Amino acid sequence: MSPTKAPQREVFATRGAFIFAAIGSAVGLGNIWRFPYVAYENGGGAFLIPYLVALLTAGIPLLFFTYALGHRTRAAAPLAYRTLSRGAEPIGWFKTGIAFVIGVYYAAIIAWAACFMVFSLKQSWGDDAEGFFFGEYLKMGDPGVSFEFVPGVLIPVILVWVVAIGILVLGVQNGIAGFSKIFIPLLVVVFLILVIRSLFLPGAADGLNALFTPSFDALTDPKVWIAAYGQIFFSLSICFGIMITYASYLKKKTNLTGSGLVVGFSNSAFEILAGIGVFAALGFMAAAQGVEVGDVASSGIGLAFVAFPTLISQMPGGAFFGVAFFACLVFAGLTSLISIVQVPIQALREKFGWGNKFSIFIVGGAMAIVSIVLMTTVTGLYVLDTMDAWANNLGIVGAAVVALLVVGWVLKGDLGKLPILRDHLNAVSSFKVNKLWLACVGLITPVLLVYMLVQQIITFATEGYEDYPAGLTGVFGWGMIGLLAVLAFALTLIRWPQSSIDATEAAIADSVAEENKRNAAGSGSGPAVSKKSGGRAGKGLLTTEEK
Ligand code: ALA
Repeated sequence: MSPTKAPQREVFATRGAFIFAAIGSAVGLGNIWRFPYVAYENGGGAFLIPYLVALLTAGIPLLFFTYALGHRTRAAAPLAYRTLSRGAEPIGWFKTGIAFVIGVYYAAIIAWAACFMVFSLKQSWGDDAEGFFFGEYLKMGDPGVSFEFVPGVLIPVILVWVVAIGILVLGVQNGIAGFSKIFIPLLVVVFLILVIRSLFLPGAADGLNALFTPSFDALTDPKVWIAAYGQIFFSLSICFGIMITYASYLKKKTNLTGSGLVVGFSNSAFEILAGIGVFAALGFMAAAQGVEVGDVASSGIGLAFVAFPTLISQMPGGAFFGVAFFACLVFAGLTSLISIVQVPIQALREKFGWGNKFSIFIVGGAMAIVSIVLMTTVTGLYVLDTMDAWANNLGIVGAAVVALLVVGWVLKGDLGKLPILRDHLNAVSSFKVNKLWLACVGLITPVLLVYMLVQQIITFATEGYEDYPAGLTGVFGWGMIGLLAVLAFALTLIRWPQSSIDATEAAIADSVAEENKRNAAGSGSGPAVSKKSGGRAGKGLLTTEEK
């Protein structure tokens, strides 16, 4: 373990290992805890229309975009963007910062779920799940910042970080892929049992009706579309550096688009399954209480930690159901958390030439400390909620907009650097991308996202968020985004170690050789590499600006 050892890049041993790791990253709290209430709040069945549009126009195309960037350069986000242009490096750092922030609060939600797994055994919340979660468990004070720690949250959060760092120390193949290979199938089996069980509960059909009955008026509301795109980005783990980092561990010849389709559709299938399971269960709960489904389908945090405990108390076999449900949240959350934490670990490792383990302990340790300080006090939930709102709605969407505009529009070349990425995808993949992909990442998605981002900024600026005090949203919302932007530019000023530059140049040279080989062979299914960009790609990247 040495801070100066040249970084040794790890690899996923097989494409299957990568697919498991990528699904492990994608399927997370976003699918089980977030999707059902976002769908319900944004038009129910009608939400599936913007959701599918977002998946097809932005989710899958951007997944390909990030795979191409990470795989071609074999670098994490900052260095990968720098290979496109020195001026693009801050985009990579900003995304890395967003991953840092998400990791800080994501660990806390996993820790709560782990506690609720234990609480489910005795149904510790009694007949007041809401009072128990907010009052007894989180010991919530007034919105603001406090240093009054809550031991019942502090200890599990520390344990979550110990587990996450422990998995990461095992490495990309044995740790990240190995853990996902075990826990993703387990998650699917346990979750399927839960969903099937829920479907047989009395009242389940009312829950499904509530989820799937479309409110078409919602389609004219920009907020519904923002929610759909935000959900897709969060859920697919795109636009905060994860998929660039994971793709950078792939071997030279890997079918990128084929893998992306498997990951994208698996994630959405699990998400819709989660929606069905959660709403069938809520239908039962509403029937048992004699109220409407809308009255029990509360917002995100409440859905898992208030509505579910109430449900567990009401259903036969509730203890088993509860342990299994919260175990699913923990498994899904952990496989995503490790991918989120790996982003700053890999980025800083490359920037400072650190050894693998050194970087894991320094970066993972720093994230753990920030997480403990901010999330385990009596005001942790307010800070979490604020950071989540700004990181998702402004951070991820903003990073996506800037990345697409810079790469597609600002950087030199016809369509900026997009043809280079397209050619790389086509050189190594079975499913070729064409003009439609260019239209999605070069035009449709950036235009839609600019509109959404502006709307969101106006909403936050004029309405604030959740009646939280301006000081709270000023520091942990606007301030956090501002700090990440400043840090992104500051880190860009620091020189890269030669070892990192050499490694990415070698990766690009390999990629160009592969692209040229495919070009010369002519793939038979359309141009694998356009002559125009194929020739240019070989010498353009990194060399001119970096040297
Ligand atoms: N993609 C991860 C999730 O859905 C972050 O939770």
